[in-house]
Amino acid sequence: MPKLLLCALLTVLAAACTPAASAARPTLDPASSAGRGAQLFTGAGRCATCHALTAGTIIVGPALAGVASRASTRVPGMAAEIYLEESILHPNDFLVPGFAVAQMDTTLAKTLTTNQVADLVAFLQTLQ
Ligand code: HEC
Repeated sequence: MPKLLLCALLTVLAAACTPAASAARPTLDPASSAGRGAQLFTGAGRCATCHALTAGTIIVGPALAGVASRASTRVPGMAAEIYLEESILHPNDFLVPGFAVAQMDTTLAKTLTTNQVADLVAFLQTLQ
């Protein structure tokens, strides 16, 4: 039964690879706000088309690894949560150094509900 063997092998390989790949990030409860945000990040939010979660990897936008820690230092006097929300709703209000204006889709926010933006912010806050 070669098919069964192949499946067994793939299962073992997946098990061997998964912990290493997800080691940098906590496992999120898919029913939590942050968990829903993680789904949106790669899904309907389309954030992952431009943002990697691995430090130093630039797709179109900056990698978002560690953004939770950076967020409170970006705009003096602006709390991390507000900065992250603003980054989604009004991406050109503050530009990450080294990135040009209008590279992040300003119409993106219009396709997201207020709850979806809140879930994305909750997810971004887990990226310490
Ligand atoms: C078309 C590409 C593109 C898409 C799609 C996109 N972004 Fe961005 N994003 C950028 C670029 C470029 C920057 C840097 C320029 C700026 O600050 O606006 C950025 C900046 C950011 C920042 C600020 C990062 C920092 O270090 O301060 C956050 C947070 C962010 N994006 C979150 C998101 C989220 C969440 C989504 C999905 C809803 C998203 N982005 C979708 C391109 C994109």
